[in-house]
Amino acid sequence: MHYGGDYNPEQWNESVWQEDVRLMREAGVTMVRVGVFAWARIQPEEGVFDWDWLDRVIDLLHENGIQVSLATATATPPPWATTAYPEMLPQDENGSTLWHGSRQAYAPSSPVYRRLARDLVTALVERYAHHPAVGMWVANNEYGCHLNYDYSDNAAVAFRAWLKKKYGSLDALNEAWGTMFWSQRYTSFDEIVPMRLAPYSLNPGGLLDFKRFTSDTLLELFVMERDIIRASGATQPVTTNFMGFFPPADYWKWAPELDVICDDNYADPNDPVSFRGAAFTRDLMRSLKKDVPWVLLEQASNDVNWRPTNAPKAPGQMQALSMQAVARGAGSINFFQWRQSRRGSERFHSGMVPHAGTGTRTWREVTDLGETLKNLPDLGGTASGAKIAIAFDWEARWALDAPDHPGEIDYGALIPRWHAALHRQQLLVDFVHPAGDLSGYDLVIAPHLYLVSDESAANLTGFVREGGDLLVAAFSDVVDDADAFREGGFQVALRDVLGVAVEEFGALVPPVAAAGGTSAGDTGGTVSAVRGPGEDHADVDGPFAAVRGEFFAEQLQVLDPSVEVLARFSSGRLTGEPALTAKRTGAGRAWYLATIPDDDGMRRITQWAAAESGVSPVLDVPNEMVEVSRRGDVVTIINYGAESARLAVSGTDVATGAAVSSVDLDPYGWIMLRDAR
Ligand code: GLA
Repeated sequence: MHYGGDYNPEQWNESVWQEDVRLMREAGVTMVRVGVFAWARIQPEEGVFDWDWLDRVIDLLHENGIQVSLATATATPPPWATTAYPEMLPQDENGSTLWHGSRQAYAPSSPVYRRLARDLVTALVERYAHHPAVGMWVANNEYGCHLNYDYSDNAAVAFRAWLKKKYGSLDALNEAWGTMFWSQRYTSFDEIVPMRLAPYSLNPGGLLDFKRFTSDTLLELFVMERDIIRASGATQPVTTNFMGFFPPADYWKWAPELDVICDDNYADPNDPVSFRGAAFTRDLMRSLKKDVPWVLLEQASNDVNWRPTNAPKAPGQMQALSMQAVARGAGSINFFQWRQSRRGSERFHSGMVPHAGTGTRTWREVTDLGETLKNLPDLGGTASGAKIAIAFDWEARWALDAPDHPGEIDYGALIPRWHAALHRQQLLVDFVHPAGDLSGYDLVIAPHLYLVSDESAANLTGFVREGGDLLVAAFSDVVDDADAFREGGFQVALRDVLGVAVEEFGALVPPVAAAGGTSAGDTGGTVSAVRGPGEDHADVDGPFAAVRGEFFAEQLQVLDPSVEVLARFSSGRLTGEPALTAKRTGAGRAWYLATIPDDDGMRRITQWAAAESGVSPVLDVPNEMVEVSRRGDVVTIINYGAESARLAVSGTDVATGAAVSSVDLDPYGWIMLRDAR
């Protein structure tokens, strides 16, 4: 279990370094990430490297028994680079250049940027690949974080090459994108631009490919650095830091390229249920690479600087969220950053060592956490034993995020809401790609899987045949992987198992987002509500009592005589029409839900489906501000509520070895138990 943070010694006079390592030891720090934004310090001009200071830092850390996760420093080229090679600067969709003076000012597909980054990483690994202090390599930083999409000429050239490789011929591309529509037909790849601002809606197939291209391009940068590191003979794990349910990067595709998954998470202290969004991303990180403990590479010791209001964390909240990460599979807990910066944009962002020094609550909590982590027993692997999985796909998200649908829904907010529905009931859940390994799950929930590839459909179908229960919810299986309709209407790919098809989507006036809803860090969103004369919801009566459906009330055609109608709409235009159907195929069942339930409805429906599938909560703890999770044979219970919680739970306290017959937890209190009952 490593403990540490981002260490940026280049911002400090060397005399501070001595105090830094002394305090690191006091805090129980075992590993720090060095050099993440140090390109300008390491390479003051092209062809000139200054290693002396970095040698001294790394040696100093090593002498003090602190390992280094060495950043490759490629996240921000210095101004000398972008001044000499302005063609490496990125552009927005209007063609405006994004200049240096902040960070991340480079076009990911720029050959010049890539050459400079290669030179830097090559020089770094030549020097430090075999340094005994180096325990991990972290390439770049949060790929795509600020610059989600680049529309520069570099992007144009690379996008065309990517498309040529994908389609082989222009005819195939024209066919896939349906360019006979609106006279969009291309006669040369050189006519294609990277989806820049246009007078009106861009081609959906083109938009989807541009998002695929962007994710692939960023991944290419990671792979380029990783391969340089590997070629040097370095044997440490190589990684980069993810950002939860980050829209532009398909982490399902990225994960196999990383040795270990790292995540940055900044739960908002102003949101009383931000622990749910944090649980969501932690479950996602665990699911991206099962069996390898993931690294919480960044979190804040206290407040951040980038929200409109940056509330401090409550006493104990930082430790509770850290233990949540451990309980959900993390093997290392770290912060941005070690020492608060005196200058620069982040001077108000908390650090492990605050401006106010060590006589502070932050420092006490930082040292307490170090002590706690040091004393944790070996928790072994990461397996939660979840029997429920949520199947989601970045490609479905990208396609849904495009305009021009019967109704706007926000997949990036809905997937966390389905997770929250299960989380509120202490039902454990993993995430899976719809074409991924589903064996081991009793229930797979595929919410709003608008785009389904043939491969995903075959996989989900196979899961049902072999005995799994599949719950598919509204606006699923609508298009193929070109964002085009299949022959035969909707729900064609999953028709064998669903036995129903949507005739009309029945868009409803969207709900006004409830205050204090679920939040998944920065990725949770709300849907803008335009009120109108139409219906804004449709009630559903079924085996889970009444549920309120929103966004869509789909009119279903029952196509297979073996389909059973389990619930019907009980209000509005579709009163009496099927709202939830069931069909058996092989040894399993598939349910189709023709609407999107509100939060309470999601809770009821998932409760019903879990019970049908024989899945029970980890423990019977009916307090929604208390979270119960499992890692191997250890159950962790955390109270995020403002009130103390007394729970009728028994077990063996992992910390003390004592038998407990009930559990009392103060706000942000937590306990790890074996043999929990
Ligand atoms: C990101 C970056 C860090 C820092 C933090 C601040 O996660 O990777 O360098 O800017 O945000 O919260």
